[in-house]
Amino acid sequence: SKQWRGVIEEYRDRLPVDAGAPVVSLGEGGTPLVRARVLSERTGCEVHLKVEGANPTGSFKDRGMTMAISRAKAAGAQAVICASTGNTSASAAAYAVRAGMVCAVLVPQGKIALGKMGQALVHGARILQVDGNFDNCLQLARGLAEKYPVALVNSVNPARIEGQKTAAFEVVDALGDAPDVHVLPVGNAGNITAYWKGYAEYAADGVASRKPRMWGFQASGAAPIVRGAVVEQPQTIATAIRIGNPASWGSAVEARDASGGVIDLVTDRQILSAYRLLAAQEGVFVEPASAAGVAGLLAAAEDGRLAAGQTVVVTVTGNGLKDPDWAVAGAPQPVTVPVDADAAAERLGLG
Ligand code: F0G
Repeated sequence: SKQWRGVIEEYRDRLPVDAGAPVVSLGEGGTPLVRARVLSERTGCEVHLKVEGANPTGSFKDRGMTMAISRAKAAGAQAVICASTGNTSASAAAYAVRAGMVCAVLVPQGKIALGKMGQALVHGARILQVDGNFDNCLQLARGLAEKYPVALVNSVNPARIEGQKTAAFEVVDALGDAPDVHVLPVGNAGNITAYWKGYAEYAADGVASRKPRMWGFQASGAAPIVRGAVVEQPQTIATAIRIGNPASWGSAVEARDASGGVIDLVTDRQILSAYRLLAAQEGVFVEPASAAGVAGLLAAAEDGRLAAGQTVVVTVTGNGLKDPDWAVAGAPQPVTVPVDADAAAERLGLG
């Protein structure tokens, strides 16, 4: 059939799933790879956006969550738990509903976008706001999963990485080979780990002739990997990547070094500028954290670190509707008109 079946069915032969095991899916994956005209012009490269906000709950987390929740279901788990800056909790909550499980989420108080909180609430998750940051939440979630009968579905769960690696497969399947450079935001560092694993597997099996250089970008106030030290009080407007001690730190460094890539930082100002450019000039509305990769790509092109003529894929990780405050802030207030064509035409400058 032509219907996309979700990442487990589409890539079953490349995922650790037992025949006959339950598959909990919302049809995730199969997301658009969109050629970015303005970014291509600005960089002299062939730039594509992997639009992960098109996933069922609006972020790339769904790829890993179908695997983690299916596994938990197969193991007979009745409850799952995660720490989250918002997207993981939204995804876990939705997939837990599909699986008939209870979902508990731990989020940093006051630091998750409203859309994500709304998702966790409407899917019926049990939400605890923790008086601390994401790193504190993850520590707490790990402790609870050790002591109580609840399965941890953060990306420290290897099933999550397995599911997320399918995004790299899709890129190669769409382009016919791996790109020269793959760019993405880095928070807890699971996704850069997963992409690198996916690219490495396709290269090892000869599906791709090469592997890309991995370019990760952290927000300047939450850049522990770049700075080489834990950030105790991470700060950034990009709440999704407000993380000071990434769980997959080591494997992110491995992906960077083995690929000949970089992990660098971008300022919140650069993130917001890229966020606006994506929406206003490429027609792609992402959440602020998702623009960090684009911000990094543009900075690299400007200061000569990106040679022209390369094929570049940038993952934009989450949907702009998750956190619309930044779209509205600073934008002019729409004018109000009467139900009158001439008045509307005048306001629109039509004549
Ligand atoms: N972009 C978005 C929109 C995210 O939600 C995240 C992570 C990242 C990028 C970074 O990915 O952690 O694999 O390096 N969000 C997690 C969460 C932490 O709880 O939703 P990463």
